[in-house]
Amino acid sequence: MKNVLISYMSYFGNSRKCAGLFDEDLKSRGFETQLISIKDNEKPSGEWDTLIVFSPVRMGNVVGKTRKFIRKLDCSGKNFALVISHGADLDHRFSPVKPTEKLQVRMTEKGMLKVADPTYIKVVSNEGPPVEGFEDTLGELADSLVNSPAVIR
Ligand SMILES: Cc1cc2nc3c(=O)[nH]c(=O)nc-3n(C[C@H](O)[C@H](O)[C@H](O)COP(=O)(O)O)c2cc1C
Repeated sequence: MKNVLISYMSYFGNSRKCAGLFDEDLKSRGFETQLISIKDNEKPSGEWDTLIVFSPVRMGNVVGKTRKFIRKLDCSGKNFALVISHGADLDHRFSPVKPTEKLQVRMTEKGMLKVADPTYIKVVSNEGPPVEGFEDTLGELADSLVNSPAVIR
């Protein structure tokens, strides 16, 4: 199987950049991938088993376009993991943690299976870039997919 749909929403390019790097990494590990832009309304074109969503938080929530994309997606029975770019610290009142957890609940209510904890990619300022070491953080997510029985079955 190992068919992964990588979708990204991005205003300043940070989530897009992370999604692109992640796509290359998964391909090099033998996964079949599709990379689609939520902002450009791109749709998945073939089979996929696992959805990885790259998205920023803004105003204390995962941005609306991402939430709408997930709401409309036919995804019952599929795996998922979230990669969230954010400017605030994880213990700040605009922290990405609560909205991310809320979105995960919605996705499981849609019949999806979470295959990895959320990956948080902090950006240095609103426009970026991502903080040093983000490539390693993305690599850890790729490692966990390689080791996930649900993903590689
Ligand atoms: C209007 C606005 C509101 C934002 N609100 C938050 C927020 O509530 N919490 C947070 O952690 N980061 C916030 N940020 C920072 C964004 O998360 C950051 O710009 C984003 O991760 C960059 O990703 P992108 O380049 O893919 O758009 C905000 C940024 C903007 C411009």
